[in-house]
Amino acid sequence: MEQTLVLVKPDGVQRGLIGQIITRLERRGLKLIGMKFMQVSTELASTHYEAHVGKPFYEGLVTYITSSPIVAMVWEGKDAIQIVRTTMGATNAAAAAPGTIRGDFAVEIGRNLVHGSDGPESAAREVSLFFKSEELVNWKRETDLWIRE
Ligand code: RTP
Ligand code: MG
Repeated sequence: MEQTLVLVKPDGVQRGLIGQIITRLERRGLKLIGMKFMQVSTELASTHYEAHVGKPFYEGLVTYITSSPIVAMVWEGKDAIQIVRTTMGATNAAAAAPGTIRGDFAVEIGRNLVHGSDGPESAAREVSLFFKSEELVNWKRETDLWIRE
C-alpha cells in the first residue's frame, strides 16, 4: 500500500491549523499510520530538502521549516501520494484552487502550510527520514469497506 509523508509546516502549527489540515486528509479517506509533533533540526531539514540545495529559496526554506515545531505524519492508501498532493493544492498558494488546503488557508509559496512527498521514491525516503519503522502502526480500519470498492 502506498505511503506518503505529510508535514504541517511551522505556519500551520502557529496559525492553529493542525486540526483542519488533518481533518481534510481524514475525511478524504486516507488512513493515518504515524504522527508526531516535533522540532526539525537543521540537519534533518538539509537532508529532507537536499534536492533544493543551491536554489535561491533554499536558505529561507531551511530557516522556515526549522523556525517552530511541525507535525509529521504518514498517510496510507492506494494513490496516497497523488491524493495528498491534490488535497494540498498548488505549491504556490496564490494559484492554489479553492477547496484545497493551500487554496483555502494560504496566500504564497513561502508560507504554504503543508508538505507532501512528490513521488514513490521521495515518499519512501522521507517516511524513513522522519519515522522509525516501529513508529508506524499497522491497523485495520472498519470504514475502508465504504471508502474503497
Ligand atoms: P512540498 O515539497 O512542500 O510538498 O511542495 P512541492 O513539492 O510542491 O514544492 P517543492 O518544489 O518541493 O518546494 C519545496 C518547498 O519550497 C518552498 N519553495 N519556495 N520561493 C520559491 O520560489 C519557492 N519554491 C519552493 C515551498 O515552501 C515549497 O513547498
Ligand atoms: Mg516537494
